[in-house]
Amino acid sequence: MKYYLVDGKGIDTLQLLEKSSPSNLNENDVLVDVQAWSLNYRDLMVAKGQYRSLDLMLPPFIPVSDMAGIVKSVGKNVTEFKSGDRVLNAPFRHYPAGTLRSSWARTFVGGMGVDGVLAEQVAYPADALVKIPEYLDFKEAATFTIAGLTAWSALVTHGRTLPGEWVLLHGTGGVSIFAAQLAHAIGARTIMTTSSDEKADFVKKTFGVTATVNYRDANWADQVKEITQGAGVDVVVDTAGGDVLAQTLAICNYGARVGVIGVLSGQDSTIHIRDLLTHQVQIRGIYMESTQELRALMRAVEVLKLKPVIDKAFPFTQAKEAYRYLESQKHVGKVVITL
Ligand SMILES: NC(=O)c1ccc[n+]([C@@H]2O[C@H](COP(=O)([O-])OP(=O)(O)OC[C@H]3O[C@@H](n4cnc5c(N)ncnc54)[C@H](OP(=O)(O)O)[C@@H]3O)[C@@H](O)[C@H]2O)c1
Repeated sequence: MKYYLVDGKGIDTLQLLEKSSPSNLNENDVLVDVQAWSLNYRDLMVAKGQYRSLDLMLPPFIPVSDMAGIVKSVGKNVTEFKSGDRVLNAPFRHYPAGTLRSSWARTFVGGMGVDGVLAEQVAYPADALVKIPEYLDFKEAATFTIAGLTAWSALVTHGRTLPGEWVLLHGTGGVSIFAAQLAHAIGARTIMTTSSDEKADFVKKTFGVTATVNYRDANWADQVKEITQGAGVDVVVDTAGGDVLAQTLAICNYGARVGVIGVLSGQDSTIHIRDLLTHQVQIRGIYMESTQELRALMRAVEVLKLKPVIDKAFPFTQAKEAYRYLESQKHVGKVVITL
């Protein structure tokens, strides 16, 4: 089977290699013939050696955390799946439910030396796989592992978004677009920030985003507050971090819930405590969820028949081009790789 290795030295050093298929399947594992993968911003950071404590001394490992495919065979203890089933993976090989633990955190695939899934065949624990609803194809299904689950976690698991509330979303990337779709399903109103007028028109027309604001405008936060008629936003899916987080906290409504997810605008932020306490704002770090939450998300999207937004698909042999396209930030929604 063919697979990729990443060494943290840049997209150009991704290597496409070949080895024999996994043998001696663990008794609790499932062997998956992977059909599609999806890329996340994290994959760029991993490739460039910018992900957490990833240092360049780590031995090369298989990148990417999201896959969807067909069950080829199952270990002897596996009863939930059979050959031919269509499955997608949870981001952790072991994080069944509840609050993350340090030993479970080390099973997050595709980063910090833990092999990921950018391979034609992957052995994965049955407990960390979920069946794909019939209405989704493989490339659509692969997008839920991280982007879909993160949006769900920020809006539903922890955000407890209610109909009619204002939800603020930063950028038009994978997490934000999923969050817009889920927010509308809940009956919430969305404000999306974007640096592109063209993308602003597109998301308003295509996903019914209520309003857009350019985050490069110095007064973007004032514009957001004005849209909410001075009340402020109720739920924030904050993929930006940095100064954007501090500015966002100043435009929160009473009782707002802020999911801190990403660092597109920087790793550090100076927040004003008064903004938090006067408005009883809750901030929650969002760091990928459990298999239980992924199952809940997939049940919800099956009822909604929610279709992920795929900007572009690249063949497996052109994974580097897929990484570069994601890096260009020309996309809206997800960039995927297919067999
Ligand atoms: N904690 C977690 O579990 C978790 C999970 C998933 C993602 N993340 C993080 O969330 C962030 C987004 O991930 P993603 O995969 O959705 O990324 P993505 O698909 O690569 O989307 C990036 C988009 O964000 C927008 N953007 C760039 N700089 C920005 C800024 N300074 N302020 C606001 N928006 C900005 C751009 O949108 P426009 O082109 O419209 O301007 C860009 O296209 C990343 O930092 C990622 O690491 C964290």
